[in-house]
Amino acid sequence: MLTTIGSGEQYIKIGAELILQGEVVAFPTETVYGLGADAFNAEAVKKIYEAKGRPQDNPLIVHLVDYKDLETVAKDIPAIAADLYKAFCPGPLTMVLKKSPIIPDIVTAGLDTVGVRFPSHPVAIEFIKLSGAIAAPSANASKHISPTTALHVLEDLNGKIPLIIDGGASEVGIESTIIDLTKDTPEILRPGIITIEEIEKIVKVNYCDKKIKTALAPGMKYIHYSPYCDCVIAKEAAIEDLYQQSIVKNIKTLVLATDDTVAKLKNVSAWKLGKNEQEVANRLYSLLRKGEKSYDLIIIENLSDSAKFHSVMNRIEKAAKRKE
Ligand code: TXA
Ligand code: MG
Repeated sequence: MLTTIGSGEQYIKIGAELILQGEVVAFPTETVYGLGADAFNAEAVKKIYEAKGRPQDNPLIVHLVDYKDLETVAKDIPAIAADLYKAFCPGPLTMVLKKSPIIPDIVTAGLDTVGVRFPSHPVAIEFIKLSGAIAAPSANASKHISPTTALHVLEDLNGKIPLIIDGGASEVGIESTIIDLTKDTPEILRPGIITIEEIEKIVKVNYCDKKIKTALAPGMKYIHYSPYCDCVIAKEAAIEDLYQQSIVKNIKTLVLATDDTVAKLKNVSAWKLGKNEQEVANRLYSLLRKGEKSYDLIIIENLSDSAKFHSVMNRIEKAAKRKE
């Protein structure tokens, strides 16, 4: 199959036509690129799992534009959903709700709940308006880093999907915050750029990082977001030593660290991740993808001492897990 990349109104229309024909299409969102199919067409959704090599027990997120369409895809919607929508949507928040029977089981991997998100990227909005509800995971090959540009999608899915709609680089750069609203107390299943503190201004939530490892969001149990090269985490004080040890062994090594840390490092090949969580989120995946092409080992600075980097550290820990 030939994979086309196109941008602008014309390709949004072609994308919507492909969706209506039961095809899959990659499209930009503000978080990462998604690989979409008609959320009501089980055969079309199956193609998403096939193109990505995604395990079928990992559910997809349904992407909508209008809040009123929530009633079509979900049922028993709690009042708090409207409050969260008002505060954060459209934007990088996924709400897990009771699933309506109209959503095929393949979308939710057989769960009786469904993840729903209202993306804010103008291209995503236009695309969904033309094609209807879109079921989509991130548009990477399963287990690889999520794509934040159309070229990243091409690297992973070339020849496997007909179209990538190019909407530029994703602004947020890490996947949405997932909140489960089916529990008595809402639960954060995946941290994101909308922080737990921000959500707690609207509703009290439970969040336990450890629990996520036993797969509250089914996808969290898989190795995710990993570069194809080795990847380790090191505290600032340990980076130079670790770097020199691996250079001595002839391992091509790269350091990814905050701007402040890079400024202090000596005789080290290092790239700047940014100054704050927003900047790190925005750059992390594209720097990992760039780094894996020319390096054998990426050392990433451990930012876990600072609560300010909580969500990016969650992704960095996953990136470093591949070889465990
Ligand atoms: O920002 C995002 O969320 C992006 C863009 C494309 O919207 N999507 C995304 O999808 O990152 P991805 O590949 O992470 O897959 C969806 C995640 C998985 O971790 C899955 O387990 C979780 O959402 N999920 C989906 N439905 C769920 C449900 N009903 N209950 C719990 N977790 C769910
Ligand atoms: Mg993903």
